[in-house]
Amino acid sequence: MGGLFDGPGAGLAARIMARANAPAEGEAIARLDPPPGARVLVLGYGPGVGVARLAQRLPEGFVLGVDPSAAMLKSAARRNRAAIGAGRVRLELAHAHAIPAPAADFDAAIAVNTLQLCEPLAATMLELARVLRPGGRLVSLTHDWAMARHAGSSAAWLDQAQAAFALAGFVDFQSLPAQAERGRSIAVLARRP
Ligand SMILES: C[S@@+](CC[C@H](N)C(=O)[O-])C[C@H]1O[C@@H](n2cnc3c(N)ncnc32)[C@H](O)[C@@H]1O
Repeated sequence: MGGLFDGPGAGLAARIMARANAPAEGEAIARLDPPPGARVLVLGYGPGVGVARLAQRLPEGFVLGVDPSAAMLKSAARRNRAAIGAGRVRLELAHAHAIPAPAADFDAAIAVNTLQLCEPLAATMLELARVLRPGGRLVSLTHDWAMARHAGSSAAWLDQAQAAFALAGFVDFQSLPAQAERGRSIAVLARRP
């Protein structure tokens, strides 16, 4: 993989994201509000800030992160060394459309500034539906400008996302302005029936 997340500038990108996107990671976790024993999947862990916050919040739970960037794996593994050593966090070099986990293994998932990068989105949603248990929820937060970059406008991206979620069998799809980034981040919520 090359580009922003795995090219020569990836270390700098990781440091910038760790600071700038921390409020969105925090908001995604707050909206999810998982109980202390939950098993939570993180799509696109980047520098691992959301994984670290989840690990703190889930003393009896488990966090699996997937991200295809070796540079992000290095950064996130450094940030989560203790929880990985304790067996409470596992970080995999993998795409969200091929998650190395059995079916119905997770209670919930979060994705921050990542879903718009997950191509093909339909295959990603089918894979997410496979690994979530019945009733399992997804909370995603994404910069509105990043959605627009991928689909022409954030509304167009949300239409595509809603269709992909529906095809994969998700219900209760909602999109709403998030608090992070003063409304320039959009939350998407959905649930496996
Ligand atoms: C903009 S960064 C966001 C990272 C972190 N969640 C944050 O908000 O700071 C997007 C991340 O998604 C990862 N990514 C790209 N395509 C992906 C895919 N198909 N599945 C999972 N992660 C992916 C990238 O490598 C990158 O680490």
